[in-house]
Amino acid sequence: MRGRFLTTGERVSRFEADLARFAGRKRAVGVTSGTAGLHLALVGLGVGEGDEVITTPISFVATANAVVLAGARPVFAEVEASTGNIDPAAVESAITEKTRAILPVHLYGVMCDMGRLAELARRNGLLLIEDAAHALEALQRRGAGVAVNYRPIHLYRFYRENFGGREGRFPRAEHIGASTISLPLYPKLTEEEADYVAASLAESMKE
Ligand SMILES: Cc1ncc(COP(=O)(O)O)c(C=O)c1O
Repeated sequence: MRGRFLTTGERVSRFEADLARFAGRKRAVGVTSGTAGLHLALVGLGVGEGDEVITTPISFVATANAVVLAGARPVFAEVEASTGNIDPAAVESAITEKTRAILPVHLYGVMCDMGRLAELARRNGLLLIEDAAHALEALQRRGAGVAVNYRPIHLYRFYRENFGGREGRFPRAEHIGASTISLPLYPKLTEEEADYVAASLAESMKE
């Protein structure tokens, strides 16, 4: 904000170069948000009107919103009970002749089964676009990361009314949505605050 450029400039170029190196890619493009990045990837690859994109019902709603924003239709596929990540078998059953892309989310820092998803994409001529908002480092290290709590996307009113979302459609995703909470966690959280959060959690579990 102190520099001459508000939206682009030397810092952004440096960030893009550093990120590309970190992720082992030829190129990285800086955008204003995760939603903008997903939208850009979809539109840039020509996904739009009349296309279906298979994605997960357990993510931040922006994942599916980016598909809608691109003019395509999000088609949800059930998640694995153990990881909460999109289940490749469910993806396979959701493929139709309108499917253009698979959009997995590496939830909570744990990678999806990219081997199977890549194979499915290859076999069916589909694009594979990864939402790595939770997992930039997992892409490198495949480790565990933070936890964010989400309501299942198909149960939001917008997705119920426009895309036929209903209770019971994805029981594993709904179970995760109903049983996962997010706790305050940020770099400046003090030891005392962390203790307070832990104690409050322990108390509420007794109720
Ligand atoms: C999995 C996932 N995808 C996309 C987004 C969207 O990112 P942004 O809020 O920067 O638009 C988020 C944000 O929390 C997210 O968790």
